[in-house]
Amino acid sequence: MKGVAVLFCVLSLVLGQGQIYSWDGTGETLAPDLINPCLTDQNSCGCCVMQRQKWQLEQYLNSSLNSLEDLLTSAQTTLRNIRENRVAFSVGLTDKRRCVGPVKMTAINVVYQSIFINIEEAYNSTTGVFTVPRSGVYNLALTVFSDAGSPGAPLAVCTSIRRNGVALAALKEIYDQDQEDQATAVILVELRVGDRVSVSLQPGCWLCDDQNHYNTFSGFLLYATV
Ligand SMILES: *[C@@H]1O[C@H](CO)[C@@H](O)[C@H](O)[C@H]1NC(C)=O
Ligand SMILES: *[C@@H]1O[C@H](CO)[C@@H](O)[C@H](O)[C@H]1NC(C)=O
Repeated sequence: MKGVAVLFCVLSLVLGQGQIYSWDGTGETLAPDLINPCLTDQNSCGCCVMQRQKWQLEQYLNSSLNSLEDLLTSAQTTLRNIRENRVAFSVGLTDKRRCVGPVKMTAINVVYQSIFINIEEAYNSTTGVFTVPRSGVYNLALTVFSDAGSPGAPLAVCTSIRRNGVALAALKEIYDQDQEDQATAVILVELRVGDRVSVSLQPGCWLCDDQNHYNTFSGFLLYATV
């Protein structure tokens, strides 16, 4: 209420310069203790008018302040929601020349070790699993690349994006006339909090990369659902 007090100090100056404010309050109910001086002592009428205008200004300022406080609260809530809804990760396979696979019997999780962005570490770079921190519609993108090593050698790229172990989208290139190959899948999918999303590499297939990051895996929350 400091601001109100300061404004009261300048009130007399404002009044001296004529009728600037329109809060003359015709028809408004006044507090009884502000009316009484006028009835009992005519000499105090000037003061009474002053008191009335002061009270009306205070009311006006109070209601302005209240609506500003409401606006501030709602802006703070919106900002907090936006902050809580930020989910994004983007990772590359490796920072130096390296191949992952081929594996023999069972599929493995590809562990991406080069982190571009990983808000609140929702992507675990030890296990290769993105654990969904907030339910919503997500954009997931996978780009795979492999190198057969020499012309004519077989190339086998076979991976899938999995949710809780079940494939959502797969990429497959098994070929022997191409030394290198690259493929991309982008999907929108509704995920629940706690879902585990990973990239699985099938037996007999392998991925190769270097500091150019030919293999990337990314995801972000498009919008949250309850
Ligand atoms: C304005 O707000 C203050 C603090 O809440 C209160 O004490 C005062 O009575 C209010 N004035 C009016 C005119 O409503
Ligand atoms: C990643 O997973 C490992 C193995 O489950 C765990 O020990 C580690 O705490 C996890 N890291 C984060 C950041 O959650």
